Amino acid sequence: MQVKVVIGTIAFMLTMIILGYAALREPERLEHFTNAREGRTIETGAKIYIDNCATCHGVEAKAEECYDATGNSITCQGLPLNNYFLVCGDAPARLEQTRFEGTKEQFIERTIAAGRSGTVMPPWSSRYGGPMRDDQVANVAAFVLNFANEEFCAEEPISFDWPELVEDFLTLETEDFVAGPGDPENGAAVYASYACTSCHGNVDEAGSNQIGPWLGDIAEVGATRVEGQTALQYVYHSILYPNDYIAPDCANGPCTGPPSAMVQDLAFRMSSNPQDMIDLLAYLVGN
Ligand code: HEC
Ligand code: HEC
Repeated sequence: MQVKVVIGTIAFMLTMIILGYAALREPERLEHFTNAREGRTIETGAKIYIDNCATCHGVEAKAEECYDATGNSITCQGLPLNNYFLVCGDAPARLEQTRFEGTKEQFIERTIAAGRSGTVMPPWSSRYGGPMRDDQVANVAAFVLNFANEEFCAEEPISFDWPELVEDFLTLETEDFVAGPGDPENGAAVYASYACTSCHGNVDEAGSNQIGPWLGDIAEVGATRVEGQTALQYVYHSILYPNDYIAPDCANGPCTGPPSAMVQDLAFRMSSNPQDMIDLLAYLVGN
């Protein structure tokens, strides 16, 4: 009888020790598991990115270098995702600009899931007619958010300082930017990628504008808008500061404003590649 009690007690104590040890180890094990899972998510996301997104958003998601399926260099149509103003901090500037109310995680995941209507950014989630499951969307979103590491986010990049006069801009030479000659062909691609088409229509087709004025004749009309401004100066200024002057006739009657119904964030978005502005001006006005 007594032996049984002793054995029972010892067995009980041993069980408690083993359980206690396991319980102590549990948080550590969980952490390991979480890290491994996050690692896999980002890795899977990186693969999805290369297969589906890099043609528009580019190598390293900087929207600088893009290749088609056969390896030819093409114009990047997307925006940089490896971008301080999109991924760094709790409230990146990009959210405020687009008047998005929510977290950056929601902004990025929703944009990927639903796409951006009026632009070439397609929906990816099957819930919006795209080809991906929600876990694949989550993985590629995690990959984008992972650009926000401590080193990358440590210092805010200086956004481009647009000269007031277009002549100064077109001949600018600084440490970070040297103005190249205007390339109207790339300008046409820029016009499409910044969704100018969705409001201003096709420049080769009068009346194709949906919201803003048709821009097919802006090279002539632009010179008559603001006294003292050439067409080139007027178009440059209109893109950067849409509220400063409101054009007379929009697609559905007189234009309204200020504030202008035109997108307001082009000065910021074009900062990452000012050459786009030069090419766009070459396309619309010629320079
Ligand atoms: C056909 C070209 C194209 C492809 C392919 C594409 N995108 Fe985009 N994406 C765009 C364009 C253009 C925009 C900017 C739309 C706009 O002007 O608001 C954009 C915007 C975004 C944005 C929002 C960026 C911001 O600053 O507002 C995210 C995030 C994004 N894309 C992620 C992805 C991911 C992830 C994939 C791949 C699964 C992908 N895109 C594939 C063209 C593309
Ligand atoms: C969301 C719609 C929208 C988008 C996108 C948009 N615009 Fe506009 N834009 C307008 C509206 C509306 C006006 C007229 C009101 C005003 O003058 O600000 C306008 C005016 C202009 C004007 C002056 C036209 C004139 O007849 O005097 C120019 C130039 C212009 N936009 C260029 C662009 C370019 C280039 C892009 C793309 C990089 C662009 N816009 C994108 C809506 C848009």
